Amino acid sequence: MAMMQGSFRAVALTVTLIAGLVYVAQSTADPSGPIHWYIPKAVNKPPYANGTAMVGDSVMYTWKGFFHGVVLSTSSNCTDKAAHMQVPGGMDATAGNATVTFKEPGTFYVLCPVGQHCSEGQIQRWDVTSPLSAEG
Ligand SMILES: *[C@@H]1O[C@H](CO)[C@@H](O)[C@H](O)[C@H]1NC(C)=O
Ligand SMILES: *[C@@H]1O[C@H](CO)[C@@H](O)[C@H](O)[C@H]1NC(C)=O
Ligand SMILES: *[C@@H]1O[C@H](CO)[C@@H](O)[C@H](O)[C@H]1NC(C)=O
Repeated sequence: MAMMQGSFRAVALTVTLIAGLVYVAQSTADPSGPIHWYIPKAVNKPPYANGTAMVGDSVMYTWKGFFHGVVLSTSSNCTDKAAHMQVPGGMDATAGNATVTFKEPGTFYVLCPVGQHCSEGQIQRWDVTSPLSAEG
């Protein structure tokens, strides 16, 4: 499975495709690491940049020292818990490494289900395309 890494600082996610192998979203903040997961408002950072991915790609979110969680949602509505899908490593905890794998095309949101974190900006939109669809 392709592994995708990046961070909120990726203003324009530069995607390099190597025929079904690995592709990496370039990031000025942490070109090699996972996406650091925190509340942008609380730490005075810009909002998470929208990302693009393909079905089968995975993105890792990491945090340490703060209570967060990671869920994948079909809705940008922070409190629409019926739309929240659990992800490996995404349980609410003071540290974690969550891996989100996109299994179908569409628009998805990775968000923190803890308290008001999502409404405070801890949410990232991903537009996921099928590898079978024409590349734009
Ligand atoms: C992400 O895309 C949505 C829809 O086009 C837009 O409203 C929003 O401002 C974008 N977010 C960022 C952080 O660029
Ligand atoms: C968000 O979802 C909650 C729970 O389903 C619902 O009560 C609320 O009306 C929704 N908000 C919006 C803006 O759709
Ligand atoms: C997350 O991954 C890092 C790097 O592999 C590791 O050092 C850390 O212990 C992991 N944290 C958790 C909570 O699994």
